[in-house]
Amino acid sequence: MRVIICPSAEEASRQAANMVAKQLQKKANSVLGLATGDTPKKLYKQLIEKYRENKIDFSEVTTFNLDEYFGLRPEHPQSYRSFMQEYFFSQINIPSSQTFVPNGLTSDVENYGAKYEAQIDSAGGIDLQILGIGRDGHIGFNEPGSSLGSLTRVKALTSETISDNARFFNTKEQVPHLAITMGVGSILKAKTCLLLAFGSAKSKAVMEMIEGPITSQVTASALQLHPQTVVFLDEEAAEKLARKKYYHEAEAAQKQLEIFSSDNTPLP
Ligand code: F6R
Repeated sequence: MRVIICPSAEEASRQAANMVAKQLQKKANSVLGLATGDTPKKLYKQLIEKYRENKIDFSEVTTFNLDEYFGLRPEHPQSYRSFMQEYFFSQINIPSSQTFVPNGLTSDVENYGAKYEAQIDSAGGIDLQILGIGRDGHIGFNEPGSSLGSLTRVKALTSETISDNARFFNTKEQVPHLAITMGVGSILKAKTCLLLAFGSAKSKAVMEMIEGPITSQVTASALQLHPQTVVFLDEEAAEKLARKKYYHEAEAAQKQLEIFSSDNTPLP
């Protein structure tokens, strides 16, 4: 796991956006896995800016969102489809036929997950998966106890997640208790994972994800098994890490390596 600790969430999002831009430069028809929530908003803003400056093009990109509330219409203002429209899709040149968000209204609960997995597979699999992390260490809506081999399915949210997400609804009672989410196993299939975490409220989950044991009680810890995961943190999210000094040293060494490697093509 590569751990990049930045002075601010803005800087972390800027560096993460550069990584997405490099991916699109390398492969114009990349398949991106996307997350919602507060964390990736700055990243999406940076990507929109790059698009407006003609530095990146989304016309050939396909996207798959991690999750959607079960029971919400796509047009519902709090649906994750609406979130993606508002904060990203409506401001870039991606054809809507190339954007996939799980259907929260599916009547085929039993088979829907397998169909979503098949759609991802037929697009060639996810090249770069963007992730946030919940205070309880979840990725997607894979709450503590989710199988580390799980695939897309319907999952019950914890009361902690329901309370955290109540800020997007008028009342806590309006927050759905179920979601369709890609599983931990689905996420681990992505070629590269990029996880962002900001603020001290995330510091415990971040520490457990990076330095704790691999456990279904902190589903993000499964990323320790992934060969290509990059974690971008601000100082507050990194505050509980025991090996912070090493992560800074490793980054400095990594920069030297990049000077000598072929991966030093200028940013788009
Ligand atoms: C959202 C998702 C969740 C969030 C997590 C953090 O699509 O998959 O795992 O990334 O709940 O949410 P924020 O960023 O709002 O703190």
